[in-house]
Amino acid sequence: MSINPPLSPGDKLSTGAESPGSLAEAAEEVHTAYTLADSKPPLDEEVLKVENLTVGFPTDDGLVQAVRGVSYTLRAREVLGIVGESGSGKSVSSMAVMGLLPRNARINGRILYRDRDMLTMRPNEQRALRGEKIAMIFQDPMTSLNPVHTVGDQLAEAVLAHHLVPRRAALTKAREMLDLVGIPQADKRLKAYPHEFSGGMRQRVMIAMAIINDPDVIIADEPTTALDVTVQAQILEKLLEVKDAVNAAILMITHDLGVIAGMAHRTLVMYAGKPVEIGGTDSVFYQPRMPYTAGLLGSIPSLEGEGEDRLRPITGTPPSLVHLPSGCPFSPRCPLATEVCRETEPDLVTVGEDHRAACHHSDRLAEAEDPTAFFRPDAVRAEDEGDEAEGTPGTDGVSRTDEKSEEGR
Ligand SMILES: Nc1ncnc2c1ncn2[C@@H]1O[C@H](COP(=O)(O)OP(=O)(O)O)[C@@H](O)[C@H]1O
Ligand code: SF4
Ligand SMILES: [Mg+2]
Repeated sequence: MSINPPLSPGDKLSTGAESPGSLAEAAEEVHTAYTLADSKPPLDEEVLKVENLTVGFPTDDGLVQAVRGVSYTLRAREVLGIVGESGSGKSVSSMAVMGLLPRNARINGRILYRDRDMLTMRPNEQRALRGEKIAMIFQDPMTSLNPVHTVGDQLAEAVLAHHLVPRRAALTKAREMLDLVGIPQADKRLKAYPHEFSGGMRQRVMIAMAIINDPDVIIADEPTTALDVTVQAQILEKLLEVKDAVNAAILMITHDLGVIAGMAHRTLVMYAGKPVEIGGTDSVFYQPRMPYTAGLLGSIPSLEGEGEDRLRPITGTPPSLVHLPSGCPFSPRCPLATEVCRETEPDLVTVGEDHRAACHHSDRLAEAEDPTAFFRPDAVRAEDEGDEAEGTPGTDGVSRTDEKSEEGR
């Protein structure tokens, strides 16, 4: 039975509320916001620990160093945001956790689920964990949902793959999950096919699928990129709600800092396969200590700003992961780069409480009134202006000279 008319490609961004004849859906969209402040705080219990993960892909051109030493810890009920431009290794590092990398991938490091290393456990043990205790939500539900089976059948299958229960019990669980993710008339919706759902509602089905086996970790890889901003906000709120309902942790992967601003307890910024800054989201957002993070923050459109203040994109492109430049991989694009940056790649070091950054000149960001101003088109580059560039930009973006660094001379 058709609940909503099938979607045409142009309808992809429509919300459930826009679908004709779905008053219940419209009512559901008038909801109260569920924010990080409302959500339950993280627990001390560590559920996932990734240690010095590296992933390389041999190709005809050489080894693609897609992930070059990623480490993080995820506690129960914690949301960790992983952010970085396209190609920075976000998906490959999470696919490694899910065991979904191609056979030729060279993986090293440790991926600990509750102290058990998933990289060394037997394949059947891995399979038991993945999909059950560690679940994934992808960007495009249509690639993960089977178009010829009803949503109810697919949700029930997800239960039956991991549990010896009667089919009827699996369907009951499926209905409960649809209720939980805010899909109205769950009984009817169980019998609908994926194409009968709007984009936002399909992504809710994916969330239901991810939580149906009571996971400890939900990996959400760009889960809202294909949705318009209103639906995106609703889906993110729903994710926070279900996190608390099932006590799971969330790894939220996105290229958009705005997505994790209100939703992640901690934020990890990746560049060229490496974490370059990690810390509490407030520290990373309000006191960025790595120019790339500052650049990303400056490239979020600001509603208040005007003209050049509205958007300060980072110019240039990320480096080749086969032929990485020497030194800091961000140096060709960095307005603060000096000689030392081109010679030595900086390590991730402590720059504050629960805050680490990989930058030779992170002190200069700490001193700046507005760290994003380094990326203004009229800002003075360290290389071009020698000593003068050692100044710190004020909110006007104009460099002022008040102290000198060691490497700049
Ligand atoms: N199977 C593969 N073979 C070779 N290179 C790959 C493969 N999968 C991913 N890569 C490369 O690894 C890098 C990181 O990719 P990815 O993790 O998907 O980036 P993103 O941060 O956008 O999610 C990219 O340069 C990508 O081209
Ligand atoms: S180490 Fe140098 S090039 Fe790299 S981000 Fe810091 S200032 Fe820029
Ligand atoms: Mg990706």
